[in-house]
Parts: sequence; structure tokens; C-alpha cells
Amino acid sequence: MAVRHFLTLLDFTPQELLAVLARAIELKKMRVDGVIYEPFRGKVLGMIFEKSSTRTRVSFEAGMAQFGGSAIFLSPRDTQLGRGEPIEDSARVISRMVDIVMIRTFAHDTIERFAAYSRVPVINGLTDDHHPCQILADLQTFIEHRGQLQGKTFAWVGDGNNMCNSYIHAAHQLGFQLRIACPYGFEPDPTLLEEYKHCATLVKTAEDAVAGAHLIATDVWTSMGQEAEQSIRKRRFSTYQVNPRLMDLAAPDALFMHCLPAHRGEEISEDMLDDPRAVVWDEAENRLHAQKALMEFLLSH
Ligand code: CP
Ligand code: NVA
Repeated sequence: MAVRHFLTLLDFTPQELLAVLARAIELKKMRVDGVIYEPFRGKVLGMIFEKSSTRTRVSFEAGMAQFGGSAIFLSPRDTQLGRGEPIEDSARVISRMVDIVMIRTFAHDTIERFAAYSRVPVINGLTDDHHPCQILADLQTFIEHRGQLQGKTFAWVGDGNNMCNSYIHAAHQLGFQLRIACPYGFEPDPTLLEEYKHCATLVKTAEDAVAGAHLIATDVWTSMGQEAEQSIRKRRFSTYQVNPRLMDLAAPDALFMHCLPAHRGEEISEDMLDDPRAVVWDEAENRLHAQKALMEFLLSH
């Protein structure tokens, strides 16, 4: 049987995604109830981080420990990856020693090349193009608070970045509509928008995107690797801030999500995370449960 990977949300069927989300909710309850469940005894997760992380690292490492396994943190600074060892060679070596691999890197192509040479499942912990693990946590959070995804309208406000791309895939896979508002020049790739025009629509303003929407999501204006563009981005994105006044245009039971880290005073107002519509702490916690469900799925298929 071919090894399964999770590089984008398209690697799973809609049924598989829903099963992982349901399992995540179950695993969360088991943890609250104090159930010890260690299906991964003796199993090792290799975690390659070429970019910084708090949530992704802690959730994968804690999740693996809770499952009775262990995790190894690898950074280019102190592995041969940083000294130019080809990704294909690294994949062949690392995947002979560990049971599952998570990678956070820059070019999406890097993780695809690693996966092509890996004997074990590879999980995308964020690339320049996609952040599917974060979307699993977001979807779990929405389901927990509001129930089914199908038929809902979600709004993406801000940068047409890796998170936005993964939201487009999620809309396609799970049957919701996504309205996207980005400053001119910062939209998602036009070919992606064309391919998913049945579920993702580009609109002009943040107000157009959020009108009547059930979920409003945003992200930093400057992603990792774009630091040189920070000041221009701050100017170009200034009318794309999510704040309680913008949220008032959404559906009365709308939720607000942000993958974090957040920049108060930029993509969100100082008070946005204290608004009762914000569910960002549940969203962050759900990285743990969603990824445990994901790893369990990958190691049993
Ligand atoms: N949301 C997210 O992926 O956070 P980290 O960068 O802290 O992992
Ligand atoms: N779009 C952000 C997400 C951080 C979790 C980035 O890529 O830096």
C-alpha cells in the first residue's frame, strides 16, 4: 500500500477529513477525562523546522508524548540540511529511522520532494503555499462551536497567503463558500481562484467579505520569509483590519479565528481577541487534538 501523506487538504477525501475531525473531538474528550491512550509506544516523529514555531512544535511534540511516542526536533542550523545535503537524500535517511515526519519549510516543492523519497508519512507543518494542519484545527473549532460546515459562508480578510490557500481547499472539500478580501496585488494565485471559483470568490472590501458570514478569519499581514516587505504591507493592508465593528456586519452568531501569532493594532484591533466572538484559544488548543487524530490516521493507513 502506498504511503499516505498530508501535504495539502486535497490529500484526503472529504469523508477522511470529516473522520479525522470527529476523531479529534473524541481525543480531546479523552484527554479532558484523563484517559491514558498510548497507541504510539516506540514510535518516533521527526520534526523538521526551517521556520520558527510555537504552536506547531508544541502541539506535535506534546501530542506524540501523550500517545506514548517521542519526537525529534531538527533544524537546518544543526543538521546537514543547513549545509546543503539534498532534501531527497535527507528524506531517504530520516524516513528509515523514524515512523512519521512533519516539515515546516519555505517552498512547497521542498516538502513534495521530501515526500516523494520518504518511506513514512509526511505532514505539512506550513509551507509558503499551504498550512493544512491549522485548517484542521480551525474546522474542528467551528464544528465544536457551531456544528456542520456544509452550506456555511466563511470570510477571509487580509493576505492571500498560505492560510487563505488552504481555506480555499477546505471550502472545496467540505462544501462551504469562501469570500476573500485582499488588497490589490496580494490576492491568491489567479489559477487557484479560477480552479475553485465554485466555492471561493474574490470580493473588493473587507466589508463585502464579512457581510452575513458565519466565520471571519485573518492572519498576519507579513508572513515568515516576507519580512523585507513589512512596511509596504502595513500601508497596503490598513483597511483590512478585523475589529468588533467589522464583525458586527457578519452573521449574529459569527465566530472569529486567527491562526496566531497575532499583531494587535495591525490585522486585528487591540480588543479583537477579547471579543466574545473570538475563539482563537480553542483554535490554538485544537492543533493538538487535530494533529493527534491526523497522525493516528496516517499511521493506520
Ligand atoms: N499557527 C501556527 O502555526 O503557529 P506557530 O507558527 O507558532 O506554529
Ligand atoms: N501566514 C503565516 C502563518 C503563521 C502561522 C506565515 O506563514 O508566517
